[in-house]
Amino acid sequence: MTAITLLSTEILWRSALYGSIAFAIIGFARLMYLLFIYYDYVSPLRDLPGPKDHHIFLGQLLNQFRAGDPEQPYTDWMQKWPDAPLIRYRETGFAAEGLLINNAAAYRDVMQSQSCYAYERSAPFRRLIGDIIGVGLVFAEGTEHRAQRKALGGLFTVSNIKAYLPILQDKADRLVAEWDRAVTDEKDDGNVEIKQLYAKITLNVISIFALGIDFGNLDSRTAFQSCYEAMFDLSTSGMLLAAINLVVPIRWLPVQANRVFMDASTELRGILTGVTEARILSVASDNEKPILPPTASPTKDLLTYMVETKYRATNPADRWSKEELIEQLLNFMATGHETTAGALTFATHELGLHPEVVAKMRKEALTLPESPSFSDIDRLPYLDAVIRECLRYQTPVAGIPRVAQHDVFVAGRRVPKGTTLMPVPAVLHRNKTLWGDDATTFNPDRWLKDPLIGGATDGDSCAWVAFGHGPRACIGRALASLNVKVVLLSLVKQFEWESVHKGKLPVVNPSGQLRPSGEVWLKVKRVGEETK
Ligand code: HEM
Ligand SMILES: *[C@@H]1O[C@H](CO)[C@@H](O)[C@H](O)[C@H]1NC(C)=O
Repeated sequence: MTAITLLSTEILWRSALYGSIAFAIIGFARLMYLLFIYYDYVSPLRDLPGPKDHHIFLGQLLNQFRAGDPEQPYTDWMQKWPDAPLIRYRETGFAAEGLLINNAAAYRDVMQSQSCYAYERSAPFRRLIGDIIGVGLVFAEGTEHRAQRKALGGLFTVSNIKAYLPILQDKADRLVAEWDRAVTDEKDDGNVEIKQLYAKITLNVISIFALGIDFGNLDSRTAFQSCYEAMFDLSTSGMLLAAINLVVPIRWLPVQANRVFMDASTELRGILTGVTEARILSVASDNEKPILPPTASPTKDLLTYMVETKYRATNPADRWSKEELIEQLLNFMATGHETTAGALTFATHELGLHPEVVAKMRKEALTLPESPSFSDIDRLPYLDAVIRECLRYQTPVAGIPRVAQHDVFVAGRRVPKGTTLMPVPAVLHRNKTLWGDDATTFNPDRWLKDPLIGGATDGDSCAWVAFGHGPRACIGRALASLNVKVVLLSLVKQFEWESVHKGKLPVVNPSGQLRPSGEVWLKVKRVGEETK
């Protein structure tokens, strides 16, 4: 080797070394800047009010972890800074800023069609629930999201959902039979645990809707149910992992709580893969007259519909792969059952604390014909009021954070790219300016005065946002509403019940959803009978 090449190798090595040192120094300086300087001294939002009790690294995460429920820090701030449209807090990670949406107009600014695509789901949120609910519609963004909503929207319209009434009624009848059994059975003595029952019913319903398969009875546990329980009902170490996973991805760590979680997630995907592959074959096997598997859906189920219109789309640009179908199914299986089960659990529990409301519901229910039609059920004002009030009082979806993809305007304020906007329905639902002094009281009657906004004074459609608002609002609202209505109607007609736990149910925290922790028990009797 000549001296010249030796020298040039030497120079190369040296410059690489100095380069990386410089790079490390700049990186470190930037980190220090983000951690210690940007948030307090540079951010254009630093004049906004907000809590200062954050951890430099973990932001508000520790406080969230210590809080009683997923909404609590936010509702505390709302009370502390009632007049601020936006409340600034420190997110987890490097100097990330979060803004709590604290009034109805600001909520609309973020959610409405003109602006909703300026935001995307945040990475921590994706990590918190992406493994559980798949990366279908809930995580699609921009034009992709618009295309998916357009492709699937038809299945979710009220006119399509109406056809599910007999199925929902059948499930409700099975629930009634289950309660009946508990009332008659010496051993049960009228004690009923509702969380399990509702998880089963809503999983049954969503399986029929999404897969065209009825997994059957309330007395059998399905693999689906065990998987979701493993992922939602976390052990303490499981919670800790979920929390850390918000800051740094650690689902790969080989520890027990991770294994339980990942096994369940793998099993779920496995089941859905099997169902999807079989359906692809059965749809393809006879092009002229497709022989569908025995389907319980009154209309075309989501999977068959997706195979026909998307998997086998004539235009390649419209096609979805098998994997994409599976992610969509995961998405709908999770979003479709967990929220509705939560809504039913909270509602039934709350009604067990308010026998006078149940009596009023029963009176209204008894005005219905023997087998009521969809419109009979849909136009019952008090039933509607009770359900809206239940969803206001305890809102199953606690809040899905959005991250601004470019500078945006919210409540007249310029908000820089990268800021997290946090919509927490409870913050609007407990706002006394909107709902009056009894905002934190359960009072279905408020909706009778004004069925659309529950007496919220400024006539603002974003006062009640249990199903969100704008192009990303809940696609499953019609199905969920009908499901909840049919179940509650059947129950109030035949039973009276008392909640064992007095007051609001304790919930899982941290969590993207309001999910009751542990079992939820009622003491049940038939209408007019004495409690045993
Ligand atoms: C009482 C029950 C339910 C409640 C309270 C509820 C609530 C919500 C809320 C608040 C959102 C908007 C999230 C956001 O701000 O981005 C949402 C979105 C969604 N919901 Fe529901 N939901 C319920 C039932 C259902 C059902 C039964 C299904 C499926 C059949 C479903 C499927 C979805 C999907 C796929 C999205 C994402 C929509 C999108 O990003 O375009 N939900 N839900
Ligand atoms: C409640 O909402 C109103 C109207 O959106 C807003 O002006 C007010 O600041 C909010 N907060 C409280 C605590 O009233």
